[in-house]
Amino acid sequence: DQLFDYILWIIIFSLVVGYYFVVPIGGADMPVVIALLNSFSGVAATATGFIIQNDALIISGALVGASGIILTNIMCKGMNRTIWNVLFVGIKVSTSSATSGEGVQKTAKSYEPEDTVVIFENAKQVIIVPGYGMAVAQAQHMCHELEKILEEKSVTVKYAIHPVAGRMPGHMNVLLAEANVSYDKLYDLDQINPEFEQTDVALVIGANDVVNPAARHDKSSPIYGMPILDVDKSQTVFVLKRSMNPGYAGIDNELFYNDNTIMIFGDAKDTVSRLIAVLK
Ligand code: TAP
Repeated sequence: DQLFDYILWIIIFSLVVGYYFVVPIGGADMPVVIALLNSFSGVAATATGFIIQNDALIISGALVGASGIILTNIMCKGMNRTIWNVLFVGIKVSTSSATSGEGVQKTAKSYEPEDTVVIFENAKQVIIVPGYGMAVAQAQHMCHELEKILEEKSVTVKYAIHPVAGRMPGHMNVLLAEANVSYDKLYDLDQINPEFEQTDVALVIGANDVVNPAARHDKSSPIYGMPILDVDKSQTVFVLKRSMNPGYAGIDNELFYNDNTIMIFGDAKDTVSRLIAVLK
């Protein structure tokens, strides 16, 4: 009877602690927290293993605990935030707008997909940069189609994968694998960044924060210091998204106003299929 009471109190206590631990954390930080909680579950399993003297439980718990904490660390590094910041501070939303320091309103250029043909036809290398918007639009199959059509025109096509593009670790890798994109066409941030300077077209499909140059130089930006994909260094940058709305970090992206950036507005899947149609 006393044991039952004891267990009941532990359950109630755990529920209250668990609730207050998770509730203040920003919605999109949840993948980091889930990886951390996974890691905790591994540690708990290991502790149970010691108590009931079960080696298998100790080993598997240790594996879950270690991999969870490694994953948490990778995600925090990709966002240039500490785990402390993710758990207790949340992301600060800056109020910076589309106006520059002198208060001059900046404008972004926009094209219809049909206007891009000449640029694609003259390109030697195209780097596709997928982001959360590709996942929302489920445009991965269309990306693969586009890749094949460009390759038929002797264009080299590569994919640049940022470690925190999307909303979960490996989000882009999973979607592209589902669309049968060959694994050796996917490049990590460090591998691909030096290549943008020799690239004719960077095709940004639903990515935003992971290509925001403010991370490199704007000390007041909430994403300052986060490693980004240097798409702005390529000859032409096409950005496929539905509007000028910000991404997860809630901040304006100066990339959109650069001279070499062209916005193509619309749902990513529709836009890519229109690109395919005109290139065919
Ligand atoms: P975001 O910066 O979130 O930008 C995604 C963009 O996709 C939005 O600006 C949105 O613009 C566009 N979009 C949405 N639906 C679309 C559609 N149907 N068609 C076309 N575009 C669409 O994405 P990102 O660049 O991938 O960066 C990821 C962010 O999530 C980072 O800030 C990262 O720190 C954070 N985060 C990542 C993870 C992991 S593990 N990946 C975990 C937690 C947080 P429109 O609304 O104008 O279309």
